[in-house]
Amino acid sequence: MYDVSLKSSHGRPLLAWYDRHARALPWRAPPGRASDPYAVWLSEIMLQQTTVAAVIPYFSAFLTRWPGVEALAAAPVEEVMRQWAGLGYYARARNLHACARVVAGRFGGRFPEEEAALRALPGLGPYTAAAVAAIAFGRRAVVVDGNVERVIARLFAIETPLPAAKPLIRERAAALTPQARPGDHAQAMMDLGATICTPKNPACAICPLSPACAGRAGGDPARFPVKGQKPARPQRRGAAFFILRGDGAVLVRTRPRKGLLGGMTEIPGTPWSADFDASAARRLAPMKARYRRLDGFVEHGFTHFELQLSIYVAEVEAGRRAPDDCRWAAAGSLDAQALPSLMRKVIEAARSAGVSRETPPCFT
Ligand code: ADE
Repeated sequence: MYDVSLKSSHGRPLLAWYDRHARALPWRAPPGRASDPYAVWLSEIMLQQTTVAAVIPYFSAFLTRWPGVEALAAAPVEEVMRQWAGLGYYARARNLHACARVVAGRFGGRFPEEEAALRALPGLGPYTAAAVAAIAFGRRAVVVDGNVERVIARLFAIETPLPAAKPLIRERAAALTPQARPGDHAQAMMDLGATICTPKNPACAICPLSPACAGRAGGDPARFPVKGQKPARPQRRGAAFFILRGDGAVLVRTRPRKGLLGGMTEIPGTPWSADFDASAARRLAPMKARYRRLDGFVEHGFTHFELQLSIYVAEVEAGRRAPDDCRWAAAGSLDAQALPSLMRKVIEAARSAGVSRETPPCFT
């Protein structure tokens, strides 16, 4: 049997490793200092479904602009959406703002410390509530994200495939969570998963848990977690119409508040569907113009489908009026809109084809 208590004759190897190798991340308090709950909460919301590298510049920009939860709560939601643009999963930004309002309004600007109370706030699921309780408030909470799942599945050589293995993984993770320093323990597991116990080629030789790891003992730790059959993501197709006015303005519109990319700015286009009829696309254009179809496609992966967009471009005279549901974004102002990454790709395609005069928007 392997000793998987994470205790050894040397104490707690995982926390000892964390003390030496913790990644320096802008939301982390220096060792021995209390974390700022606002920074922890903000980072955890941003880190849902997004990598640390992508989050860092957004986190810093938010913290500079809105240094505390009350400042964020006082901001118009449109501003928050605009600052969030490019991070994806925009419901998170709406919930972020709603949560800031609840904390500022109902809790006097202080986040509740209990996992259950955190769980009741907008945008905090079981993972985020546990992470904030542990990291910001030192509460013993079981924090399981994708990295932690991988570490646990390997440590215990769990043969049950995901997602069926989740309850067992959680049980094992709970048994390993210490009373002392639960926040550091959670972040140590995350860092271990991100830097050593990586999906491919785990660096077992330098892993502090390696002596206890059943996956490594079996000779093929990367086999874990065992994955169930994943259904392929379906494909949807559609078209977008990039229309440049003689004065450099670009036609845009706001997506409906509810649903995918809710409330974000978009280049007008057709609905997206599995049975999109490319030959009928031009008829769905927002205005009459001489359209040219660009070669190739703009492709983008959403959680539940892959999107392939055909791009049509046209130039129209300076005095042209926008249709009712659209508006002109003045030359040079596109980057300041709440543009999701997909739309940045569309603009970049038009720009590469020599249609847009916009400077390339930054990608995330
Ligand atoms: N991923 C999600 N939360 C994290 C954290 N606090 N540290 C590192 N990676 C994370």
